[in-house]
Amino acid sequence: MKGVILAGGLGTRLLPLTKITNKHLLPVHDKPMIYYPIQTLINAGIRDILIVTGGNHAGDFLRLLGNGSEFGLGHINYTYQEGEGGIAEALRLAEYFAGDDRICVVLGDNIIEKNILRTAQAFKSQPSGAKILLKEVPDPERFGVPVLDGGRVVKIEEKPETPRSKYAVTGIYMYDNTVFDIIKTLKPSGRGELEITDVNNAYIERGELTWDILDGWWTDAGTFESLRKAGNLVADGGANRI
Ligand code: DAU
Repeated sequence: MKGVILAGGLGTRLLPLTKITNKHLLPVHDKPMIYYPIQTLINAGIRDILIVTGGNHAGDFLRLLGNGSEFGLGHINYTYQEGEGGIAEALRLAEYFAGDDRICVVLGDNIIEKNILRTAQAFKSQPSGAKILLKEVPDPERFGVPVLDGGRVVKIEEKPETPRSKYAVTGIYMYDNTVFDIIKTLKPSGRGELEITDVNNAYIERGELTWDILDGWWTDAGTFESLRKAGNLVADGGANRI
């Protein structure tokens, strides 16, 4: 399985911080944000990694990460997303990199405490489809929210006003190679983006989406509040450290 980190978008919720750098290069405690999703993939045994970036400061990723030697890698792949057309649009750029392989996608602003290795292994023995990771949160309305029925995810609602469960769909997704065919069928949502939630709902319709509960703490870091929380969690509780 190959790894894809989505670090495009314009990070407008963090202006003016993101006026002079990319959101994923901002500090989370003692490391740039992008270090954490890279480590998430490496801890899951994934070493073939693509970073999708964008915006005005994309060159800084190369200067920061180079070929990934700080992570024990010999090479990192990069590609560039024009504009901010959504998570699924950014993922579409990974088609050539993925080839015939499966992919583990991590959103560049998602930080976890523990390891997703067990879930990655379970996905490898799943014949096809997708696997997502859920986490119970106090504010599910900020995220994709699964509707559960007898242990099955029957639907995912993106940022619902009235969440139908207390879980968030975290930004760690495992997909078989048909994900790129699904993306080609998507239409932009109300906020003008190709939504990853629509990708996951397509797998649900096929009866091919499985899920796990994520171990340990999880946070995004795309708002001032969550960025501060991420820094505090890393400082206090470890995180998947290099
Ligand atoms: O954090 C998990 C949540 O991430 C999920 O629960 C939601 O279902 C999912 O839609 C997403 O929600 P956000 O609205 O918080 O995503 P955001 O726009 O902040 O984008 C998250 C990351 O995705 C961002 O750090 C970089 C990447 N991205 C995003 C966009 C819009 C791209 O690479 N390109 C893009 O165009």
